[in-house]
Amino acid sequence: MYSEELIDVENGIQSKKIFWEEGIYHHELETVFYRCWLFLTHESLVPEAGDFIVAKMVDDEVIVSRQKDGSIQGFYNYCTHRGNQLCPYEAGNARGFQCNYHGWAFGLDGSLQSVPFKEQAYRKHFDQSKWGLKKVAKIESYNGFIFACADGDAPSLREYLGEMAWYLDAWTNVPGGIEFLGPPARSIMRANWKAPAENFVGDAYHLGWTHASALSVIGGPVGGLVGNDEPPPEGIGLQVTTKHGHGFGCLWDLGPTLMSDTVPEIWQWKQDHTPEIEERLDAWRARTYSGQWNCTLFPNCSFLYGTNAFKLWNPIGPNEIEVFTWAFAEKRMPEDMKKRIHSSVHRTFGPAGTFESDDGDNLEYCTQVNRGQVTRTGVMNAQMGLGEERDDPNLPGLVGDYISEISHRGMYRFYAELLDGATWDDINISGDLWKESLMKATRQDQESV
Ligand code: FES
Ligand SMILES: [Fe+2]
Repeated sequence: MYSEELIDVENGIQSKKIFWEEGIYHHELETVFYRCWLFLTHESLVPEAGDFIVAKMVDDEVIVSRQKDGSIQGFYNYCTHRGNQLCPYEAGNARGFQCNYHGWAFGLDGSLQSVPFKEQAYRKHFDQSKWGLKKVAKIESYNGFIFACADGDAPSLREYLGEMAWYLDAWTNVPGGIEFLGPPARSIMRANWKAPAENFVGDAYHLGWTHASALSVIGGPVGGLVGNDEPPPEGIGLQVTTKHGHGFGCLWDLGPTLMSDTVPEIWQWKQDHTPEIEERLDAWRARTYSGQWNCTLFPNCSFLYGTNAFKLWNPIGPNEIEVFTWAFAEKRMPEDMKKRIHSSVHRTFGPAGTFESDDGDNLEYCTQVNRGQVTRTGVMNAQMGLGEERDDPNLPGLVGDYISEISHRGMYRFYAELLDGATWDDINISGDLWKESLMKATRQDQESV
């Protein structure tokens, strides 16, 4: 099996080569990025007919546009004549798109609408109806978050999100929905895409150490984590992993900590709106509404709910990514509150944000050290909390302690499955079988008692 030398699921160990080697990266492009649902944008950024943004699916550009009937479509951003890039803009509103090279013009619906002096130039050997834009195989949105998938045989987005959708509903399905606050900040990081993906999926361990100085400036309840002086108290949160590698950690009650000096009324907002989440969903998810989440939706989309930063780690090679950072808020929040949330997000997790700079150094070095031929023959350890995973009857997925690496292991379990499977039929194992390999250490501990 391809993954055998790279990922040891049961023991929580990964080869360092996965952060560096060109061959593995190219295998990932086919087995991970071609096959999985990738985040494109949010519906709030394309609210009106004709609104469009140009999104990235690794190296493919996709024009995501709101159609006249209100639906969303995705077309690859190239002209079907001689293949020029069609739309050179990041976003806008248009009735259609006209190519800069010879002037072919396409409608919002992707159809080829006009070809300069078609009759004289082509005479009869040209069927205009066949030369519309190429559609992305699948495009869907979940509570306004738009994803696309290049593999027409992939499961639906809802199925792909799987158990994670149950958790996401806590804050993505609030009355009025979520709004993305303007275009993303874009920056380059010299890191493999999995370095930030695993950091966001479950690395609560680094908070007090990597971010010690930023946290000590912020103070308040998170000040206690600074410098890892003492282990964090039991039960401060939890971590979850799911079948398709998505995972998150939730730190109870401290959601808005990182923005509370710029948006002090956010605490009250959370308190005021928690009862309605409980009424709509349940008490458990209502509690997560005021928590601080770190999350990765596998493979390369991450967010911090509570801090309200939304991230895309778009690979541009085995050891480089383009980082997209959006700020988001509840649509029903007062405009002034949204404005301050926006600046708080970029102050902390924008390209020049305090926390982003702390993380950036570590993520780049975790990648770049593998330039060393011997260094990259080493392995990485994600054994924290091994044997402590719980299959909680009330919570989807597998649950572990807030400071653990169960989500890393869950992410790499699915990653390995993708690397080895030829199609979705090979990898879409049914039921809860996926939990068994992750819980092997737990089972062994139980048997030895
Ligand atoms: S390449 Fe676009 S019109 Fe020719
Ligand atoms: Fe961090």
